[in-house]
Amino acid sequence: MSGTAGLATFAGACDDDGWVSVRHGSDHVERHHVRRWLRDADPVDLDLVGVCDGPTLDVGCGPGRLTVALAQQGTPALGIDICAEAVTRTRML
Ligand SMILES: C[S@@+](CC[C@H](N)C(=O)[O-])C[C@H]1O[C@@H](n2cnc3c(N)ncnc32)[C@H](O)[C@@H]1O
Repeated sequence: MSGTAGLATFAGACDDDGWVSVRHGSDHVERHHVRRWLRDADPVDLDLVGVCDGPTLDVGCGPGRLTVALAQQGTPALGIDICAEAVTRTRML
């Protein structure tokens, strides 16, 4: 999955039941649930957020959960994303 095809798949998964399949080569497929990216930051995410000690640009922020975690720790943060569905969900937070 790449380019606009990948974006369309992500957008569709946001609207449907949330599952996407990512194929690596011919025989390895990973299944991911998009709603994972709608949850609050988990301990691993917070480790990453914790090393951001200056104004941070969250490129590919999705619905913005890491951007929110950055703001909650007092780090100025701006999230950007090219997926309209992700941006719409950010505005619902
Ligand atoms: C796997 S999701 C992760 C979302 C978020 N970072 C998180 O951890 O919850 C990847 C995000 O990257 C965005 N994305 C992909 N290519 C991008 C690009 N070129 N510029 C900005 N965002 C992009 C997708 O729209 C999607 O929302």
